[in-house]
Amino acid sequence: MKTLIAYSSKTGNTKKIGESILKAFPNGEFKDIDDIDNFDYDLIVVGGWIDKGTLDKKSFNFVKGINEKRVAYFFTLGAFPDSEHANNCIENINKLFLDNKNIILGNFHCQGAIDPKLISWMAKLPSEHPHSPNKERIKRWREASKHPNEKDLKEAYNYFKNL
Ligand SMILES: Cc1cc2nc3c(=O)[nH]c(=O)nc-3n(C[C@H](O)[C@H](O)[C@H](O)COP(=O)(O)O)c2cc1C
Repeated sequence: MKTLIAYSSKTGNTKKIGESILKAFPNGEFKDIDDIDNFDYDLIVVGGWIDKGTLDKKSFNFVKGINEKRVAYFFTLGAFPDSEHANNCIENINKLFLDNKNIILGNFHCQGAIDPKLISWMAKLPSEHPHSPNKERIKRWREASKHPNEKDLKEAYNYFKNL
């Protein structure tokens, strides 16, 4: 089976998960989305990071171009993996693929450290701002900073190995 693992990653979290997933596909090709020029694969696995509740722009636009293929996807995000926000992301991404009549075989996600530049920006926001630091958010940012960890990498591999 000809498999492509295509990823977009700004700070490296999603790329790390993709590298682990690649091990589940011995003949798989692993490519930055920027380097992909055809969709001639039996399975396309897309990896992206979450930006404003959906796939980042690069993976979003990439998915828009995939039609009637067998696909799977993975993403990393700052929010907790079992949060409503994470579930909404899954819904949004499913819709993107299904709009183009793709067949989704599965999906995987885990937390990923938030870019320190964004953290310092949010740290200065006034308290009434929806992203300003409060106890709960600081806890979440701290937890995210530990991911992806070895457990995440292993889980990603196992998930795709058993797909
Ligand atoms: C500009 C920006 C917007 C983000 N928006 C969200 C978001 O809406 N929800 C979320 O859970 N995480 C958000 N994050 C966190 C990233 O999705 C997360 O840190 C991810 O692991 C980054 O992946 P990468 O290292 O592959 O670039 C955002 C990060 C940045 C830099």
